[in-house]
Formats: sequence, C-alpha cells, structure tokens
Amino acid sequence: TQKKTWSDRFEGSLHPAIVEFNASITFDIELIEYDLTGSIAHAKMLAKTGIISESEAQTLVKGLEQIRQEHRDGNFNPDIDQEDVHFAVERRLTELVGDVGKKLHTARSRNDQVGTDIRLYLRDQIQQIRSQIKAFQQVLLNHAQGNVETLIPGYTHLQRAQPISLAHHLLAYFQMAQRDWERLGEIYTRTNVSPLGCGALAGTTFPIDRHYSAELLGFSDVYGNSLDGVSDRDFAIEFLNAASLIMVHLSRLSEEMILWASQEFGFISLTDSCATGSSIMPQKKNPDVPELVRGKAGRVFGHLQGMLVLMKGLPLAYNKDLQEDKEAIFDGVKTVKGSLEAMTVLLGEGITFRKERLSEAVAEDFSNATDVADYLAAKGVPFREAYNLVGKVVKTSLASGKLLKDLTLEEWHALHPNFEADIYEAITPKQVVAARNSYGGTGFEQIHQAIERAKKQLELS
Ligand code: ARG
Repeated sequence: TQKKTWSDRFEGSLHPAIVEFNASITFDIELIEYDLTGSIAHAKMLAKTGIISESEAQTLVKGLEQIRQEHRDGNFNPDIDQEDVHFAVERRLTELVGDVGKKLHTARSRNDQVGTDIRLYLRDQIQQIRSQIKAFQQVLLNHAQGNVETLIPGYTHLQRAQPISLAHHLLAYFQMAQRDWERLGEIYTRTNVSPLGCGALAGTTFPIDRHYSAELLGFSDVYGNSLDGVSDRDFAIEFLNAASLIMVHLSRLSEEMILWASQEFGFISLTDSCATGSSIMPQKKNPDVPELVRGKAGRVFGHLQGMLVLMKGLPLAYNKDLQEDKEAIFDGVKTVKGSLEAMTVLLGEGITFRKERLSEAVAEDFSNATDVADYLAAKGVPFREAYNLVGKVVKTSLASGKLLKDLTLEEWHALHPNFEADIYEAITPKQVVAARNSYGGTGFEQIHQAIERAKKQLELS
C-alpha cells in the first residue's frame, strides 16, 4: 500500500489506479538534478536568513549531494508510491539525515519548487540546443564555402525559375537557423527568472530572501508576483514555439533533400552512413533520416498546441493540469535535439552533391529567360515589352525543341534589332547568376560577402 505523503488529515490510502494516474515520478525523475540544485539553494537561503541553523543547512546539503551521487550511480530509483520527484527526494533525504530533513520544505511549496526545476532544466536545454544550432550552421557554411560557383536550379512553385548558386540556397537555411538561435537566446532571458519563494501561491510568512536563492541558482531576476510565479508557463510555450520553428526549418530542408535524392532531381546522392535500404527492393536507397525529421516536426507542433490548450482555461494559481507540461517539454526538447543532430550528420557526411548533374540541369531549360528580357530592358526597351517578346521566343523555341542559347544571331536580330553577339554570354548560367549582384542576391560577389557575414554570426555568443 501507499506510504502516506500528505498530512494527518488523510486516513485512508489512495486507490492503486489513482496512485498511478496521479504520479509524475515516471517522467519527472528527469528533473532530479535540478530539483537537488534548487533544494540546495533553498537550504542555504534558509540558513542565511536564520530560518534554520548553519549546521542544519550543511546537513541538508550533504544529504542532497549524497542523493545526487546515488542517482548518478544508478542507485536512486523511487517507485510510483513516491508520487513525484520532489516527494521522493524529500523522503530519501529524511532517511539519510533524519528529522532535520523535514525542515527542507520550510517556506516552500512544490508549486514554486517544480516551477524552479523546470526553468533550471529548460535553461540548460536551451543552451545545449543553441550550440547544436551552431554545429548545424557550421556544416551549412562549409558546404556553402565549397559551392559558391556550383549552380543549381532555383524554383518558385517548384517550377524552374532562375539558376542560383548552391551556396546561396544553403545560406538561406543558415539564416533561418540564425534566427532560431537568436530566438532561443531571447527566450532564455524570460526562462531565467526565479519563482522560488512564491510558495504555494501567496508568498510565505518566513523572512526568506528570494534574491539570494535566485542568485545562487544563476537566475537573473525573480517573479514579482507570486501568483504569476507559480502558474506561469509562458516560457514553456515560447520554447515550444521556437522548437516548432526549428522543426519547420529542418523539415523544409528535409523535404528538399528528399526531392534532391530522387531519380527525378538527382541533385544529391546519399552516402551509406545515412541511407537505408528496402526489405524487398534491392535497388533502393532511402532518405529515411530527412523523412523522419519531416515527420517528427508534427509532434513538436502538437506539444505547442497541447500547451496552449492546457493553459487557456486555468484559473490562478497552480492547478494539477500543470503537471502535464513536463512530457510536452521533455519530448519537444528530445525531438529537436535528435533532429538537429541527425540533420547535422546528414549534411556533414550523408550527402554528396552531384555537380555534373547540377550543371546539366541549369543549362537545359529556360531559366535564363528573365535575363534576355533584362538584356533588352538594359538597352532601353521597356521591361514589359521585352518580357512579352521573350515570352514569344520561349513559345516558338519550345515548339522547335530549341533552347535560347541555340538561336542564331540572325534569329535574335529578327526578334529585335537591339540583340547583339554579347547576348550569348549574357545568358550562360554562370553569367545569369553572377549578374544578380544586388545586396542579398545570388551573384558570386554577394555570396562571398554573405559568407563573411555568416562567419561573423557564427562567432556570436
Ligand atoms: N508533480 C507536480 C507537478 O508536476 C508537482 C507540483 C504539485 N503541486 C501540487 N500542489 N499538487 O506539477
């Protein structure tokens, strides 16, 4: 039967099904290191303010550190009767240090305690994810640096539009990741606020020093309203929002990898270290990694949605519904970290760009048509007129199975007297790309500058 957790007002014991239903220990054990760290700071604060004695605090800290060691050695495995990590730690502490262990919870509630734990946890995770983003950006940058002059068809509506530098394409993802990194930095600031000392909801009668415990824990601020402190989960929603955007970005890149690896595109091949086979079709090499990332995006969006719905009807202050925040946060963290790592490996060693295939691809279409129109417009023909003229050329060329580069100079002249021999150079894929030298464009000069900017962004901390 269940060991009694609550006060003597309870006589009977919980129904076993309710014990199981109510408990969070099976998943909130993930918070144990943070729970111990938070309790140590709380104990020290209690001593500093004279609420307990120095030697009592030392005993508590020693006991808590011993539990940390037991946990790290794999010897702390509380069962479901302990309800949650907070009760489990307090009970073990009392076993280890005797009655003084029962003083730890003075001037504290599990409500401010769990809020503290989850913020300490998420703060760490945010920093880990931020460094993973940097590693991901580094492989994008490496590919970009090696592929400034590698051309690839650029698309709109998934129709060939204008050729671009492969580096330009990859640096677009670099910039998305940069925003993800910055966004997490901002969220870190709002996560790093201490609710410890808010008590159950209204503060405490003891002369605590919230700023001191906050300082010990590295929080940069404390909640100024105790009701808000114990019931705020904005930071978790903000995190899951940022996590969702990371997954949006990884999923778009994944989608492109999957397309590019297809026979129809053939822009990349998958190396054996990141591709998988089929159980029946011996010829298959499948892009399981980007497919999984694309699929896992959905569960992170689900956690975001789940948290929003979880919060929207909650009256102040703490409600047990809040226990449901944990699995959403933990799984969101785990999914984003796993996906970032897999995509970094995939980009780093899992793909090779098929450069021959890429250079054929940019040479065999009408994606230089804009440049023919620009050519005439630069010679004084109003752009819309030039545009219509080139539309006609594309139509007749398509009918005769020719590309623009195959037209003779006579044919060009017949179309418009302003065409001269330099039209051929103007519509080579390389020139078409080089010419887009506007700030932020795909022109090679621009790419070199963009790479320099990216390097500086990577150095930021
Ligand atoms: N396990 C609980 C949670 O995750 C801890 C806080 C419980 N507080 C309470 N008043 N029941 O939210």
